[in-house]
Amino acid sequence: MPRGDRGALTRVRMKSPTDAQPWEEIYRRDGRVFDSPAPVVHHVAEVLREHGCRRVADLGCGSGRHTVFLAQCGFDVIGIDNSPTALRLARTWLAHEGLRARLALADMRRPLPLRDGAWDALVSTQVIHHALRDTVRGTAREIRRILRPGGVLFVSVPSGMDPDETFRQVEPGTFVPTSGDEAGLPHHIFSAEELSLLFPGCTVLELDQIGGRIWALLAVRRLGHRRPAGAAGRP
Ligand SMILES: C[S@@+](CC[C@H](N)C(=O)[O-])C[C@H]1O[C@@H](n2cnc3c(N)ncnc32)[C@H](O)[C@@H]1O
Repeated sequence: MPRGDRGALTRVRMKSPTDAQPWEEIYRRDGRVFDSPAPVVHHVAEVLREHGCRRVADLGCGSGRHTVFLAQCGFDVIGIDNSPTALRLARTWLAHEGLRARLALADMRRPLPLRDGAWDALVSTQVIHHALRDTVRGTAREIRRILRPGGVLFVSVPSGMDPDETFRQVEPGTFVPTSGDEAGLPHHIFSAEELSLLFPGCTVLELDQIGGRIWALLAVRRLGHRRPAGAAGRP
């Protein structure tokens, strides 16, 4: 990692209060939300090693459990989230472990602040579904854009809504909780087929259901896809 990038937090000004989302409040109230990596991410780290990955983006890193774990594994990691409090918690955790990773405040509903084709892998657990369907598709395009050919992506998303929650449907497949911690935050619920088709130009390596309520997709960006024009100044 270039020395100047170490620990750098890219500050992206939020354009309007509607950019805020309930997770900011959750992190302010509860502090670090998850203490250990999701078990599947141990397997993901193995797959990343097998594919020769070094630079890994953790999209929606939250308080940092996977950013910390992947940095411990020796990857060069950037954690991205649009909750400033989550990034502060992640930064504190990294410092406590004596680890270095970049952290960027950014909204996945907008272009990601990462260069085209510059990343070997992207990991995103329980994040990209937090938007309306077309926006989720835009995020998926961004994920593909930043991956190098042969780069690996791992995303997990819910395969259903929590039956104990109350919610309303706002478009086919997208639900907004009307109470609870995530009230107001859209949840797009994928079928296995929709998820497998979300990343054209990528080959699905694994698509599994975890614990009955989560889809986990591992895919690799195919070689030979044209690399879009560069975006200078981004990591
Ligand atoms: C369920 S948490 C998962 C956090 C982390 N991936 C993990 O597994 O511990 C969802 C995360 O997505 C982030 N998030 C939600 N909407 C976002 C957006 N539009 N842009 C960036 N991050 C977002 C939240 O701040 C939160 O950290």
